[in-house]
Amino acid sequence: MTDARLIDGKAFAAEVRGRIAVEVAGLARDHGLVPGLAVVLVGEDPASQVYVRSKGVQTREAGMASFEHRLPADTDAATLHALVTRLNADPMVHGILVQLPLPDHLDAQQVIALIDPDKDVDGLHVVNAGRLAAGLPALVPCTPLGCMMLLEHELGADLSGRRALVLGRSSLVGRPVAQLLVHANATVTIAHSRTRDLAEECRRADILVAAIGRPQMIPGDWIRPGAVVIDVGINRVDAGEGKTRLVGDVDFASAVKVAGAITPVPGGVGPMTIACLLQNTLTAARRQAGLA
Ligand code: GUN
Repeated sequence: MTDARLIDGKAFAAEVRGRIAVEVAGLARDHGLVPGLAVVLVGEDPASQVYVRSKGVQTREAGMASFEHRLPADTDAATLHALVTRLNADPMVHGILVQLPLPDHLDAQQVIALIDPDKDVDGLHVVNAGRLAAGLPALVPCTPLGCMMLLEHELGADLSGRRALVLGRSSLVGRPVAQLLVHANATVTIAHSRTRDLAEECRRADILVAAIGRPQMIPGDWIRPGAVVIDVGINRVDAGEGKTRLVGDVDFASAVKVAGAITPVPGGVGPMTIACLLQNTLTAARRQAGLA
């Protein structure tokens, strides 16, 4: 059997960003509207600094306005809440993202609850989770949106008749991706740490979305021949000689022999997330301007 097709998230994300840039230019030309994204970073977490920098660069490259707010690690809740309230009221800001994790003394849920749901481009506000569950227009978390864009690219928008298995039930990935798969007419199962006979559940799936955060836990012989595998896992493991490397939740080497198509790690779902953040900012700007 030939190896699975590789789903190139890096190339596809670049394509999506290019399309967004064209739409942003059109909004500026036809309506004088420049979508604006505010990113709030509290503290000096190195990984978060890298993310925030990339978000700023890609936002500007797409022709949008980027507003970065860097606050010291000892910022108190009142100061952070005041900033979010100010961004909610700022007409130049259409999207607000508070980079996570926050320092321990700050409550992420409390901050997210303060964000105007129509500016919540992370899709983390309970109002957006509720809208998604109810099948109403919502801002959808970026990673699930990225998974769906890749699936749509592979299989088309209508997943009627396909069995999908989502591994993981987090509010950030598992639950929303399951909702989106239902909306796309797939028949969906959510599996998690308490699922019995996970191997059998996996073997039934035409679409497997792995989001459990356990390095290489799904071997190739759990995968249905020809299935489409979307691996959301980003796990850093020891590669010997003091080095580390990134692996997914799926054992890529064995899975690639069985699957019909598979996302690599890195270079699969990961690059899609910022593209989806830009998409959400564009969507939010359009809706706030009454253009959607
Ligand atoms: N930190 C790592 N990923 C994310 C994300 O998607 N959103 C936010 N707000 N913080 C993150």
